[in-house]
Amino acid sequence: MTSRRVVVIGTGYVGLTTGACLASLGHRVVCADTDPGKVERLRRAEVDILEPGLPEAVRAGLDRGLLEFVGDPRDAVATADAVFLCLPTPMGVGGAADLAAVEAVADGIRDRLPDGCVVVNKSTVPVGTAERVAALLARPDVTVVSNPEFLREGHAVHDFLHPDRIVVGAAEPDAARRVADLYAGVDAPRVLTDTAGAELTKYAANFFLAMKLSFANNLATLCERLGADIDDVVAGIGHDPRIGGAFLAPGPGWGGSCLPKDTHALLRVCEESGVEFPLLRATIETNVEHQRRLVERIAARCAGADGSLRGVRLGLLGLTFKAGTSDLRDSPALAIARRLRALGAELRAFDPALSELRPDLSDLLTVVDTPLAAVEGARACVVLTEWPDFRDLDWEAVADRLATPFVHDFRNLLDPERLDRAGLLWEGVGRAP
Ligand code: UGA
Repeated sequence: MTSRRVVVIGTGYVGLTTGACLASLGHRVVCADTDPGKVERLRRAEVDILEPGLPEAVRAGLDRGLLEFVGDPRDAVATADAVFLCLPTPMGVGGAADLAAVEAVADGIRDRLPDGCVVVNKSTVPVGTAERVAALLARPDVTVVSNPEFLREGHAVHDFLHPDRIVVGAAEPDAARRVADLYAGVDAPRVLTDTAGAELTKYAANFFLAMKLSFANNLATLCERLGADIDDVVAGIGHDPRIGGAFLAPGPGWGGSCLPKDTHALLRVCEESGVEFPLLRATIETNVEHQRRLVERIAARCAGADGSLRGVRLGLLGLTFKAGTSDLRDSPALAIARRLRALGAELRAFDPALSELRPDLSDLLTVVDTPLAAVEGARACVVLTEWPDFRDLDWEAVADRLATPFVHDFRNLLDPERLDRAGLLWEGVGRAP
């Protein structure tokens, strides 16, 4: 494999994973970030996100002299074969992706890029962004390539090194091949396309995943009504390879830093292109409706004499958007907590990834140090994130502390028989209690 000089701008979970993994493949990588404290910590291999294998990959890259961290990328860019943009693209006005960070960096590196270098967009960006960045760079000798990432938080290193596919889009096939060659040694099919194809692929993938989840959550409601078990139905359809069993576990709605942002951005793209995509709208609306229904279910069990949740204490287990991450962005747990709070409930929450960080959520809920402290005096325990440790809680102790014995398990995580033995009334999603 030919070792290349690569600069990665942005060290979020995508950028840092990209940088550390490209170094592990033998490339010489410089990662840049505007946060000086973060750069200092990364130079000591201190990674402040929960991402298995990432601290080890950073340490190995530093030790081999293949990975470097800087604040300002401009010097490194001057000798780069490829510059990866791994920048935030938050939800902006009307759901469209906000490209301010991408545009500011393009401005800053324009005059430093060497002849013939490629600029690689890894951030999820609307179709047409590669062309916009090319126009901003105004460097005809530099090709802008789209190489979307398909990394799941909490599995990013694994997904980078063992991807299902590598998608690269460029106006010139040669530039696409040069970027694809950076992944030499990674065993995965390559899909080479143009930039619009690659950019849309990323949105289409996240939309499809969200659609599967909304389907599963609606199907769960139907199962409850008809007395069927969602696990059996999903197993029954999932063995058909045209359907596939993954991403069909019902839950408290889907969230995270990508699915909500990307589905909204794609909706905006459809509107701007004059294309009606009713499935996309329904996918988003189903998620909101599903959460409303789950909250209604808690209210039906726990409301006070006046029919509201005013002053009713509830104990929440899990706040992150899924297990294995400390990320709260667009967490379904917080969306449900907000709805409960709006009905007047008093919320105490425990999350194993947050007990030390203690994020400031004081207007919404109190973060406590143990699951038992969360359920103390509560009228119900609500499981919102699928942390495996919750399965093995001392459920008798939970029962002792709860004011009424309801456990709403929105992740179908717990063993109903175990809870029954503790005298608790378990209720899952899409399964008979
Ligand atoms: C998602 C995609 O899975 C990645 O392929 C993509 O690269 C990434 O977004 C991105 O665009 O960067 P991630 O946001 O890490 O990854 O989260 P997921 O693992 O996809 O979970 C999304 C949500 O769906 C979570 O709230 C999770 O709890 C929920 N979920 C997932 C379910 O409710 N049921 C399932 O069966 C699976």
